[in-house]
Amino acid sequence: MSPPIVSALLKLGKVQRSDHLFDIGCGDGRVLITAAQSTGCKATGIEVDARVAELARRNVSARQLDGQISVREGDARSTDISDATVVTLYLSERGNKALQPLLTPKLLQDPETRVLSFLFEMPGWTPVQMELEHASQIPMFLFDGRSLPPNIRQEYEQRKAQRLQQEEQQAKDDKDKAQGA
Ligand SMILES: C[S@@+](CC[C@H](N)C(=O)[O-])C[C@H]1O[C@@H](n2cnc3c(N)ncnc32)[C@H](O)[C@@H]1O
Repeated sequence: MSPPIVSALLKLGKVQRSDHLFDIGCGDGRVLITAAQSTGCKATGIEVDARVAELARRNVSARQLDGQISVREGDARSTDISDATVVTLYLSERGNKALQPLLTPKLLQDPETRVLSFLFEMPGWTPVQMELEHASQIPMFLFDGRSLPPNIRQEYEQRKAQRLQQEEQQAKDDKDKAQGA
């Protein structure tokens, strides 16, 4: 992504200092660097190509941003993104789909997490906003918890309610047992 496109994407996601942005497939680190420099946010890149990940680390160090940005080498599908408040993607529709098992639980738990995808849609999800980058007229998509298919959200809410009920029952049983003892 070119710098104006990165800036437009950050604007679409209202990225700010308090955010922790994860760029999945961070390439040479340009999104991380622009985000950290322009907003002051913390940023983490995940890059499957070891040589490219090393290049991103060098680019980050050259700008003395090591305290603000970290780069993980590996496949994003098996990484922990629980700290993310914003996720940026510039992959492909297939690449986006492959990330759904990682992103869906994250959005169910933290529905306010913003997922920003440049150019490619997320199959089966409904964007909450779509904008065309001004100069290139290329689409950028914003997703969050509301984007998930309704059946997935319903199932999650049902399981959450069941778990809560079980926990309440367990707490009641424990209390009754303690009082009886
Ligand atoms: C089109 S480049 C985007 C680079 C950067 N985000 C940007 O916007 O300039 C996509 C990058 O994603 C990486 N990639 C693709 N699938 C990945 C995965 N599952 N986990 C981590 N990195 C991945 C590729 O190696 C490549 O460097």
